Amino acid sequence: MPAKSGGVRLQRSPSLVCYWEDDRLIFHNYRTGVRITASPACAAILDLFDSPRKPREIVSALPRFSPHSIERNLAQLVSLSLLQETGEPNSSSSELDALRNWSPAATFFHLATKDAKYHIEVAESPERLRRFMRENPQPAFFKSYPGRESVDLPPVEIPGEGSFAEVLLGRRTWRQFGGGKLALAALSRLLYLSWGVTDYVGTEFLGRLPLKTSPSGGARHPIEAYVVPLRVEGLPEGIYHYASDRHRLECLRTGPMKRRVQQYLCGQYWYEDAAAVVFMTAVFDRVYWKYRFPRAYRTVLLDAGHVCQTFCLTATWLGLAPFCTAAFADSLIERDLGVDGIGESMIYVAGVGVRPRNSRALEPGSIRSRRRSRESSTKGASASGCEANSR
Ligand SMILES: Cc1cc2nc3c(=O)[nH]c(=O)nc-3n(C[C@H](O)[C@H](O)[C@H](O)COP(=O)(O)O)c2cc1C
Repeated sequence: MPAKSGGVRLQRSPSLVCYWEDDRLIFHNYRTGVRITASPACAAILDLFDSPRKPREIVSALPRFSPHSIERNLAQLVSLSLLQETGEPNSSSSELDALRNWSPAATFFHLATKDAKYHIEVAESPERLRRFMRENPQPAFFKSYPGRESVDLPPVEIPGEGSFAEVLLGRRTWRQFGGGKLALAALSRLLYLSWGVTDYVGTEFLGRLPLKTSPSGGARHPIEAYVVPLRVEGLPEGIYHYASDRHRLECLRTGPMKRRVQQYLCGQYWYEDAAAVVFMTAVFDRVYWKYRFPRAYRTVLLDAGHVCQTFCLTATWLGLAPFCTAAFADSLIERDLGVDGIGESMIYVAGVGVRPRNSRALEPGSIRSRRRSRESSTKGASASGCEANSR
C-alpha cells in the first residue's frame, strides 16, 4: 500500500466533489467515477492534503486516531482515488488542470455524465410503459396563455421542390436505410457543408478565425468530425479525421468497423445499415483558452447541436437519410480515436445512409417489432455497458 511506505507523498485528488444525498455524505471523484459514502471526518483528513504530504506528517494533526488506523484509512483513500500519490500518472489530472477555471461546475457535469448507462425506463415493455404513464402523467408538450389576447398569423406558404422550407420539412431521423453505397462525392459535400471552413475573418487581436456554415461561440469551432465509412464508394472502412481547413480525410486506421460501430452506438442495431457515422468530439481547450469560466462549456454543447442540425439538413437536401444519437460509448470511442477524453472528448454522433426504397423514416413502433425479431442477434453487442432504446 502506498500510504504505508513512509517516503510516498500524497495529495488530495483535484477532481473531488462532496454533497449530501438525503442523509449520506457522498465523496465523488468525477475523474475516476468513484463515488463513496463517508463520514465528515473523511473531509477533515482530505483537508490535510492540500499539498503533497507524507502520511507520517499528519499523525500529529489527528491526535484522536492511532497511527495504525490513520495509515489504514489513508491506504483506503488512495485505493478509492480520493488521495493520490504525487506524480501518479493515471490519477493525476494534468489534463483537468488545463481546464481548471471550468472546474468543478463544467468538468464535473461533463465527466460525471460520461459513459452513463443509457437506459430509458419507459421503453422497456408495454406493461411497464402503461404503469409508468399511470404513475407519471406526461408533461404538456405545449404552453398556452389562455387569458391573453392572441394574434392570428397569416398562413404559411411552402415553396416547392428543392426549397429551403421543403428541406426543413423533409428532415427526419432515419432508422432504416437502403442497401446501396453512398457516393464519395455526396459524403464530401456533406462534410464540407457541415464542417468545412468556408471562409476566414480577420480580427484585430485574435488573428484569422475560421468560419463555417454553422455559428460557433467566438468562432472557436471546437467540434471535430471523425468519419467511419461503412458503405461509401471508394472509401475503405476505418476511422478518418476530417481536416476541415483542407477538406481532406486523414486516415487513422482501416479495417472492418461494422461490429465496432454497434458497440460505439450501444447496440442501436437500427443504425447498422448506415453508410457512414460521424463521431463528434469537442476540443475544449480551443474554447477554454478564450473563455475561462464554466458557462462557456454550454457553448460547446450548443455548437454541437448547431453543426449536427446543419449535417441533418444538408443530408436531407442531398436526398439522404440522416440521424443523430446521444447514446454512445464515450470512452471506447475516445480510445479508438486516440483522444484523451478530457481536453478532447466525445460529444455527439450523427450518421447518414442511403434512403430505403419506400423512402419513409421508420416509426418507433416498427423499430420495436424489428427489435423483437432481431434481439438475439444483438445480445451482448454492448461492450461498454450502456443500453439504448429508440426514444
Ligand atoms: C440530442 C438528441 C439525442 C438523440 N438520441 C437518439 C438516440 O439515442 N437514439 C435514437 O434512435 N434517436 C435519437 N435521437 C433522435 C430523436 O429520437 C428524434 O429526433 C425524435 O424522435 C424526433 O424525430 P425527428 O428527428 O424525425 O423529428 C436523438 C435526437 C437528439 C436531438
